[in-house]
Amino acid sequence: MTLRLAVLASGRGSNLQAILDAIAAGKLDAQVVGVFSDKPDAQALQRVPETLRWSRTAKSCGSREGFDATLADAVESSTPDWIVCAGYMRILSPAFIARFPDRILNIHPSLLPKYKGLHTHQRAIDAGDAEHGASVHLVTAELDAGQVLAQARVPVLPGDDAETLAARVLAVEHPLYLHVLRLLAAGRLREQAGQLLLDGHPAYTPLSLESAHS
Ligand code: GAR
Repeated sequence: MTLRLAVLASGRGSNLQAILDAIAAGKLDAQVVGVFSDKPDAQALQRVPETLRWSRTAKSCGSREGFDATLADAVESSTPDWIVCAGYMRILSPAFIARFPDRILNIHPSLLPKYKGLHTHQRAIDAGDAEHGASVHLVTAELDAGQVLAQARVPVLPGDDAETLAARVLAVEHPLYLHVLRLLAAGRLREQAGQLLLDGHPAYTPLSLESAHS
């Protein structure tokens, strides 16, 4: 069954593009049913036909709650199987999350639980970490704290700055997100009563990108 994905994005949209490319290449059995943004000029919106674009500013909705309620209505009307945050830089309100329990994924540029929030690359460099990476996790009301489904690691190299490290991480983000989405599309990864099952067994340990090729 083709997976229906509602993608939330605030910026560039390279993760969205990786999803669109995989679908077009027949490598992901999914359909992007809408791209939703809090930034009307987000590059991500330009990556899909106009009929699939939705954007509002928080200002135009009057309040944070108003924005999230309007967003939730729009997302719901696209009848997605999963909501995929791909560089969505607003914190989703508990009311939004409650409307789609265990149906929201995010990709975060760190090896969670390390470096929740912003400036993850600089923080990894400042801490002298030997490795850094990205995590795909379920979105819950607590920021960047939901169950981690998959992680990809990269080395932190001498001379790295936040920009070079971010580029190295981004290169593994795309295959990592696709790995998780393929497992969902294949019905191998599914949620049951708040627990994620991989091939019928509780998925306690995050999958690694390496297992994508197995
Ligand atoms: C990605 O690095 C993603 O992990 C990060 O924003 C970037 C979006 O890139 N997300 C967050 O920091 C969420 N807290 P993209 O727009 O090119 O996909």
